[in-house]
Amino acid sequence: MLFIVIHQVYELWFKQVLHEIDHVIVLLDAREPFRAQHSLKRVLTILKVLVAQLDILETMTPLEFQSFRERLEAASGFQSDQFRQLEFVLGTKSQAAIDRFADGGRARAALALRFRAPTLWDAFLRYLSREGYAIPTALLSRDVTARVEPSADLQATLIDLYRRDPQHAEMCERLVDLDEGLQEWRYRHVKMVQRTIGAKIGTGGSSGAQYLATTLMTPIFPDLWEIRSRL
Ligand code: HEM
Repeated sequence: MLFIVIHQVYELWFKQVLHEIDHVIVLLDAREPFRAQHSLKRVLTILKVLVAQLDILETMTPLEFQSFRERLEAASGFQSDQFRQLEFVLGTKSQAAIDRFADGGRARAALALRFRAPTLWDAFLRYLSREGYAIPTALLSRDVTARVEPSADLQATLIDLYRRDPQHAEMCERLVDLDEGLQEWRYRHVKMVQRTIGAKIGTGGSSGAQYLATTLMTPIFPDLWEIRSRL
C-alpha cells in the first residue's frame, strides 16, 4: 500500500510541477518577471516536499520490499512519463527515453510534444534578450531537441547581469535552486535505492544504483554553475 500510495503522490506533484513550469514559460514570454518568479517559488516549495517524502518510503526495510518486489515484474520508475516530461522541459532531452513508451499511447504523445518544444532555459534566454541582454543568436535559434550546452559568450553576459542587475540575478538564483533541488532528489533517490536493494539490477532492466549514479551531478543550467568561480 505504501509503495503504491507514495508513487501516486509523486505523480500528482509531478503534474502540478509541470503545470507551474509551463505557466512560468508563458509568464516569461509575456514579460511578467515577478509573476514568473512567484510560480517558480511554488515549484521550489513542492520540490522540497518531493525530497522530504522519501523519508517515508525509507521506513520500508529491504526485506519488506523484497516481499513484493517480484510482483512488480518490469514495472519501474522508467515508466514515469511525467518525470521524463519534467526532464525534457528543463532541457534533458532524449529520443531513447521516448522510445520506451508504446507507439500511439498518451505518454508517448505527451513526451514527443515536449521533445520539440523550447525548454524553460530557452524561455528565460528569450526573455533576457527582450530585456536588452546580449544573448548569442545561435542560442536563441538553437535546436531545442538537443541538450543545453554551456556557452562562453552567454556566461560573459550572465556575469555582467549578476554584477549589475540584482532583480534578474535573483531570478537566476531561483533557477539554480531548481537545478540543485532536482539533483538533491536524484541523490536521495539513489541512496534510498542503495539501502533498499543494494547493487541488484533494476526492475526496469538497468544496472540499478550504478545507472542512477550516472545521472547525478549533471546540472540542468550549466552556465549558471560555471560562472560561479568567476563572480
Ligand atoms: C524502494 C523504493 C524504490 C526503489 C528500490 C527504486 C529503484 C529504482 C531503480 C533501480 C531505478 C533504475 C531504473 C530501473 O532499472 O528500474 C529507478 C528509476 C527511477 N525511479 Fe525509483 N525506486 C524507488 C522509489 C521511487 C519513487 C518513490 C519514485 C517516485 C517518483 C521513483 C522514481 C523513479 C524515477 C523517475 C526513475 C527514473 C530515473 C532516471 O532514469 O533518471 N522511484 N528506481
